[in-house]
Amino acid sequence: MCGIIGYIGTENAVPIILDGLKRLEYRGYDSSGIAIMNNDGFTVVKQKGRLSALEELVSRKPIEGFIGIGHTRWATHGEPSDINSHPHLGNQNKIAIVHNGIIENYKQIKERLEQKGISFVSQTDSEVIAQLAESYHTGDIVETIIRTANALEGSYALGIICLDEPDKLVAIKKDNPLIVGVSEHGNFIASDVPAVLAHTNKVYYMNDKEIAVLTKTGVEFYDMDGEPIHKEPEIVTWSLDRAEKGGYEHFMLKEIMEQPRVLKDTIQSAIGDGDNRRIIESLDISRFNRIVITACGSAYNAGMVAKYVFEQLCRMTVEVDLASEFRYKDPIVDKDTLVIIISQSGETADTIAAMREAKRRGATTLSIVNVIGSTIARETDYTLYTIAGPEIAVATTKAFSAQLVLLYILAVSFAGKLGKISKETEEKLLEDIASLPDKATGMLERIDPVQKYAATCVGYKSIFFIGRNIDYAIALEGSLKLKEISYIHSEAYAGGELKHGTISLIEDNTLVVAISCCERLYEKIYSNVEQVISRGAKVLFIGNCIKAVPGERLEIIELPDINELFAPSLSVIYLQLFSYYVAANKGLDIDKPRNLAKSVTVE
Ligand code: AGP
Repeated sequence: MCGIIGYIGTENAVPIILDGLKRLEYRGYDSSGIAIMNNDGFTVVKQKGRLSALEELVSRKPIEGFIGIGHTRWATHGEPSDINSHPHLGNQNKIAIVHNGIIENYKQIKERLEQKGISFVSQTDSEVIAQLAESYHTGDIVETIIRTANALEGSYALGIICLDEPDKLVAIKKDNPLIVGVSEHGNFIASDVPAVLAHTNKVYYMNDKEIAVLTKTGVEFYDMDGEPIHKEPEIVTWSLDRAEKGGYEHFMLKEIMEQPRVLKDTIQSAIGDGDNRRIIESLDISRFNRIVITACGSAYNAGMVAKYVFEQLCRMTVEVDLASEFRYKDPIVDKDTLVIIISQSGETADTIAAMREAKRRGATTLSIVNVIGSTIARETDYTLYTIAGPEIAVATTKAFSAQLVLLYILAVSFAGKLGKISKETEEKLLEDIASLPDKATGMLERIDPVQKYAATCVGYKSIFFIGRNIDYAIALEGSLKLKEISYIHSEAYAGGELKHGTISLIEDNTLVVAISCCERLYEKIYSNVEQVISRGAKVLFIGNCIKAVPGERLEIIELPDINELFAPSLSVIYLQLFSYYVAANKGLDIDKPRNLAKSVTVE
C-alpha cells in the first residue's frame, strides 16, 4: 500500500510533489521517489527510508520541471530498497509510472517480457507496468494505458508520464483510491485529498477503470473503450489546516483532542439535518432477521461495542466477524441479513472482500466510513459517513469514536422502529448520546492523572485490560491501542475469564487496567481487581461507578456519568491517552508505528 501523486502545470513540480508526498506518508514510508520530465528526459530520484531522505537528496541536486510523479511506498513485493522504490521506468526510458496496489499476474507478465529481451531491474510487481506499457506503446498514451490495464490482474492506482507525450499526465485506478485535483496553476492526481489541498479543494473521485488525462489546463476522462466520459468535480470542505498537526506534537494527540468536535458533528449529521439522518430514517430494519458486522482492527472493536448496544436495545442477534475471517468462512448471510461494514479508510482489502462476499450472497450492505468516495462507501447499498475529517495517525482515535456514535444512533433508531423501546426512551437515549461531546470536553480538560500515571508505565513488558459486558468490548480497543503504538505486549480479557487461565500470568507488579462503567456489574469487576491485586498486580481502575479507594497498588481515574451503553465513548478517550503517553514517554514514533500502515489495502 502506497501513496501516489502527480502534477502537471505552470509551476515547478518538484516542491509540489514533495509536499504532497508528506501528506501521503501515512500510507507507507518504506521509501519514496519522484520522476520529473523535462527537455532532458526523465530525472528520477528515489531512496529507501523516510521522505526526509528523499528531500535531502533533492536539495543537494535540485531538479526542475513542470510535470512529474511521486510515490511513497509500503513494501509488498520486493524489500524496501532504493531500486525497488518508485517511480519505475521502462527499458527505453520512455515511460515512468507510480503504482499503488498489487499486480497479481506480474510473474507471468515478467516472464513474457523477459522472453522478448526486456530486462528488469527491481523485484517489484510494479515494474512490469512500466515495461508492459512501454512494450505496448503506440504513440497514443490513452490506447497504451487501456491495453496495459487490460493485461493487469490485481489492484492499482497508477500515475503515468511518457516522453512522447510531454504535455500529458495520465492516470487509471482499480480497487485502490485515486483523485484528480484541478487548480488555476495546474492539475493533480493523488491517492488522497490532503495531498492536493494546499492547491485546490476541487476534486474528481475516480471510479474503477476510468482514465484521466491531465494537461496543464484541464482534465479529460475516458472509459476503457477510449470514449470520453463526463464527471462532475466535488468541492472538499476539509481545510488543509485540519489535516495538519495543529500545534500538537503528534497527529494522534491532535486527533484525540478533536474528538468532542468530531462527536458533535457526527451526532449532528445523524440526528440533526444531515445526510446520515436521512439514510438512517430510510432503513427498514423489519426487513432483516439478522445483523452481521464485519471489519478489521479498531473498526472491529467498534463492532464489538455495537453488538452489546444493538442486542440490548433491539433484542436482535448480532454477529461480529473479523473481515479477514468472514471472507473465507462461508458466512451465513442472505437477503434477510443486514451486513454492517465499518472502515475508517473505506479501502481495507479484507473489509472490501467481506463486503463483496456479503453482497454476492444477497445481503443488504450498510457501511460506516470516514473517507468520502472510498471503495466501501461507493459499493455498499447505504453509507453513513463519520464526520471525523482526515485521520493521519496510524492509530485510529477520532474515527473510532465517530463510528461508535453512529452505531449507537443506528441501534436506537432500529430499536424504535422495531417497537422495542418507547418514544420517550428513544428520546432519552438520543439525549444521552448528545451529551457525549460535552462530557468528552470535560475529560480532555483533566488529562493530568492519565498522563502522570502513563509516565510510570514505560517499563512494563505486558499490560492486561479487563472489563465486563460492554466494558470488555472497549477493553479490546484499549489493548489494541497500547500494543500498536507502545510496542508493549497486551491482552484484553472479560473479567470473568481471568480464572479460566489468564490469572496464571499475574505476578508481582503486573499492570492491569480495569474498566468499570456497568454499575450493575461493579462488584464483579471489583472482585477481579482484588484477585489480581492479591497476586501482586498493580491496577489502574477507570470508570464512573467505582466505590473503592485508591491505594498503593490501586490508582483510580474517574469518568463522567453516562448510560452504560454509551460509556465506551468516554472510557476510550482515557485509554487512548494512556497509550499515547506511554508511547510518548518511550520516545516512539507514535504517528507511524513500526510495521503498520494507516490503510491496509493488501490482504
Ligand atoms: C487502528 O488503530 C489500526 N490502525 C487498525 O487496526 C485499523 O483499525 C484497521 O486496519 C482497519 O482500518 P479501516 O478502519 O481503515 O478499515
